[in-house]
Amino acid sequence: MRTGVPSYRENLYTPANSTDPYPHYRRMRELGPVVWLPKHRVYAITRYAECKAVLLDARTFISGDGVGLNPVVNRLGRDTTLSSDGEDHARRRKLVAPRMTPRALATMQQQIEQMAASVVDAAVARVDVDGVTDLARALPLGVVPDLVGWPTDQREHLLRWAGATFDSLGPMNATALRTMSSSIGMMRFARKIARTGNVLPGSLGEDALRAAADGVISDKEGVALMIDYLAPSLDTTISGIASALHLLATHPDQWDALRADPSLIPNAANEALRLEAPIRAFTRRAVSDVEVGGTTIPRRARVLVLYASANRDELVWENPDQFDIHRDASAQLAFGRGSHSCAGQGLARLETETLLATLVEKVTRIEPAGRPEWARNNLIRCHRTLPLRLHAA
Ligand code: HEM
Repeated sequence: MRTGVPSYRENLYTPANSTDPYPHYRRMRELGPVVWLPKHRVYAITRYAECKAVLLDARTFISGDGVGLNPVVNRLGRDTTLSSDGEDHARRRKLVAPRMTPRALATMQQQIEQMAASVVDAAVARVDVDGVTDLARALPLGVVPDLVGWPTDQREHLLRWAGATFDSLGPMNATALRTMSSSIGMMRFARKIARTGNVLPGSLGEDALRAAADGVISDKEGVALMIDYLAPSLDTTISGIASALHLLATHPDQWDALRADPSLIPNAANEALRLEAPIRAFTRRAVSDVEVGGTTIPRRARVLVLYASANRDELVWENPDQFDIHRDASAQLAFGRGSHSCAGQGLARLETETLLATLVEKVTRIEPAGRPEWARNNLIRCHRTLPLRLHAA
């Protein structure tokens, strides 16, 4: 106990606990809405109502001191949209907003539909596929690097670099240390892009570099934004799509229901994100003593907002561990909430829903075809392999 707050002594970031975190989250929710984690020296926010309240109170729970779980990444993350507050945050967010309006997304829809059709046709022809490499990665990798304007060389490193960036946001454990050189590699390359101006024309990256040249943002911010746009947009969406495929393959009744009524697709995507939140948690720093769920969190303390636990809070969701595409899952917290809620969620939804709509049209049954494996990552919950068999319509 730490001054009346229940403690939970487990290390949530061991390989075994990262692979199966949900029993730990359940025990923590049973202990209370706020639980001290001595291993990580943070107050974990375990339940839905309190997670949402913390995310909505960005004045008390700031992001400007970093949203990771170790001081190194929290220092390196300065200048990003994710790790900023107030005016700085609003200025950076304004740069990405025009690219994510419904009208801007509508201009990408046709290209994404065509991409989905050729990806699904190729997968159906192969019959036995890997849900991650053959399906889930195709649209995010086909769309995001061009949108961000990342030069066409060095793209083969993007997934490794982006995964490493998420590893670095956890505790400074062996996983983070092992992937450190990759996250630094991404930063170095982003700096080089900013220096040489080597971005694709008409891209988000070009917007950021122009804003830096015009003095709207600093040069350092320009570099940070290149990473800011890319790092959170690949593994997250890939995770969401792969989880949806896995859940639909292992719940044939739900797949049949989706085929019978494709208008359920947006909700099915939300339900998959509820059950398997791609990002487990981010942190905030409390700037004053503050009460959360009856517990006083002291000034300067770090809190861990567990989106993945909130999404299975039995006070909010009936049978929370059950996959049910008919329940209204729109309130799930996988995209966060409040001023920092995911800036790219419209694109993530478009990619996921388009792929599911194409599958529903072209595939009668998705069957598990082997044991799936989870990737090792401190923050992202994503399959490494997902063997599936597709039955053509
Ligand atoms: C299923 C896919 C995705 C998930 C689950 C996800 C999740 C999240 C979450 C939880 C946050 C909030 C961070 C916080 O509370 O501090 C966030 C922020 C952000 N996301 Fe996403 N994301 C996804 C896809 C994307 C995509 C496709 C893009 C870009 C095209 C993107 C760009 C961003 C950016 C720029 C932020 C920072 C927003 C801010 O701090 O104001 N994300 N995302």
